Amino acid sequence: MDALFAGKVAIVTGSGQGLGKAVALRFARDGADIVVADINAGTAEQTAAEVLAQGRRALAVPVNVACPAEIQSLVDRAVADFGRIDFLVNAAGVAQTKPFLELTEEDWDRVVDVNLKGTVFCLQAVGRQMVRQVPQEVIAQGRTERSYGKIVNFSSISGRRGRSVQMAYAASKAAIISVTQSAALALSPYNINVNAVCPGIIPTPMWEQIDRDRSRLMGARPGEATKAFIEKVPLQRAGSPQDVAGAVAFLCSPDADYITGQTLNVDGGFEMN
Ligand SMILES: NC(=O)c1ccc[n+]([C@@H]2O[C@H](COP(=O)([O-])OP(=O)(O)OC[C@H]3O[C@@H](n4cnc5c(N)ncnc54)[C@H](O)[C@@H]3O)[C@@H](O)[C@H]2O)c1
Repeated sequence: MDALFAGKVAIVTGSGQGLGKAVALRFARDGADIVVADINAGTAEQTAAEVLAQGRRALAVPVNVACPAEIQSLVDRAVADFGRIDFLVNAAGVAQTKPFLELTEEDWDRVVDVNLKGTVFCLQAVGRQMVRQVPQEVIAQGRTERSYGKIVNFSSISGRRGRSVQMAYAASKAAIISVTQSAALALSPYNINVNAVCPGIIPTPMWEQIDRDRSRLMGARPGEATKAFIEKVPLQRAGSPQDVAGAVAFLCSPDADYITGQTLNVDGGFEMN
């Protein structure tokens, strides 16, 4: 039997490490070819090498998602090499831990530019390409059951409620929930599904930094902030990158053909809305 994503092409932003990398490797395992897009050219190459080792095609593209011109070059290169784009996973992101009263304009701009603006313009550039991939006769006939594209954005449990020491991050992640709904409405006539995930506490380089910063603000040793969070997780553990990659794979699979505009918490029950 063919692998679930055989013949599909995925762009995964932020896939040089952490959750984006877990998604890239999971999709490759399921048969997809992967465009590894990351601001860090070295880690992007490393992930691409691991995709190739799984027998799939891979293209590493260094890109700053805060720059729409670079995003367009990314899409152009992906289409030139692989011919089409079936999935977009917007995992690139930056976190920041700082008390609200100390937040600067530069802090705000950096976080919002990467997390929110980056997600919006990746969605737009890839959305335009996916729309172009719909055959003219299908558009003329109106809606179709055929699937033309699946997009998954990365929000966060920090997008579900405010954070006194991560105001810009939480705001950017809350806005991604709205952007997901708007893009789902805009792209639904083309049978393109747009959903989001809200990961909880997942050990990655980003989470390790958050833990160090939060623990310091608490006047505690590294690890204490994570411990305090996990005490509030009903399933009583941190998640794994594979837990998140599995949810993203589901949202890109045919089983999710009738799901769009939704944001799924992948957090052990930490949030329930
Ligand atoms: N780890 C968690 O617990 C957690 C929880 C909730 C949400 N998230 C979200 O999941 C996503 C992935 O997080 P992670 O934990 O893997 O983080 P990470 O820092 O480990 O990895 C993020 C990747 O994004 C890349 N990146 C950063 N800025 C970029 C830019 N401007 N252009 C292109 N690439 C850029 C980095 O180089 C890195 O490879 C992020 O959007 C994050 O906000 C993570």
